[in-house]
Amino acid sequence: MGIAVVTGASKGIGLEIAKRLVGAGYKTYGLARYTDDFEFDSDLFHTIKCDITDLQALCVAASQIVRLEKCIDVLVNNAGIGVFGPLDTLAVSDIDRMIKTNVTAPFVLTSQLLFWLRKSSGSIINISSTAAQKKQAQGAVYSATKAALLHFGECVFEEARKQGVRVTTICPDITFGTDFYRNNFFSPSENEDTFILPECVADAVMFALNQRPGTVMSKLVIQPQRFQINRKSQS
Ligand SMILES: NC(=O)c1ccc[n+]([C@@H]2O[C@H](COP(=O)([O-])OP(=O)(O)OC[C@H]3O[C@@H](n4cnc5c(N)ncnc54)[C@H](OP(=O)(O)O)[C@@H]3O)[C@@H](O)[C@H]2O)c1
Repeated sequence: MGIAVVTGASKGIGLEIAKRLVGAGYKTYGLARYTDDFEFDSDLFHTIKCDITDLQALCVAASQIVRLEKCIDVLVNNAGIGVFGPLDTLAVSDIDRMIKTNVTAPFVLTSQLLFWLRKSSGSIINISSTAAQKKQAQGAVYSATKAALLHFGECVFEEARKQGVRVTTICPDITFGTDFYRNNFFSPSENEDTFILPECVADAVMFALNQRPGTVMSKLVIQPQRFQINRKSQS
């Protein structure tokens, strides 16, 4: 089918996307910091240990894949982190980490692979968030990073659409069963109509990829039926 690269493929949404790409026959390279945690094994799945905030390591990983494959068909910029709370309580290091992980890394990786995506008329899928378009308290930095990713994708599309490159931004809302909320003051509620699943995001990725040539799903927003979150008790 082709060659795919997925950041943050060790768990959560990225793991589900990687599984789906492998199922569709893509040879898939999954990047994450903790590659021992990958609970997925396939001849088509290759893990690369890489902290994407280390830009030198990220560029080495990109060139390693290009050297081996001489082709990239799909790039999924999925890895991301969110630290929430009143802005004046956020640690400087958390602000920095969010920007490096959610913005700088996908910008740099896309720049490194764009030549090859142009060559293959490939697809870029950015996993943003519904937060990109919401004005919400206690998530200013996270929301702004996701808005940056959304806008970046739209601009890259304008730059590369003539070469057949498709760019899709997926904006998931609160997603159940991932580690995203592990250290945050809220998490998805347990009521089934108040969250989406990693599988829903993977479905959206495949939906975008399976469009007829010439059709581009620019933005896909995935929301649960009802809004409800679970506020963790402070201990
Ligand atoms: N969960 C939600 O409700 C939700 C909603 C909307 C959008 N999203 C977005 O969906 C994406 C995936 O989130 P998730 O819910 O699946 O979270 P998750 O379960 O915490 O997974 C995050 C993934 O990103 C990787 N990652 C984080 N920092 C990294 C770094 N510095 N270098 C390399 N890999 C890194 C993690 O791998 P390692 O820890 O092994 O490095 C992991 O594979 C994120 O961009 C998030 O913003 C999530």
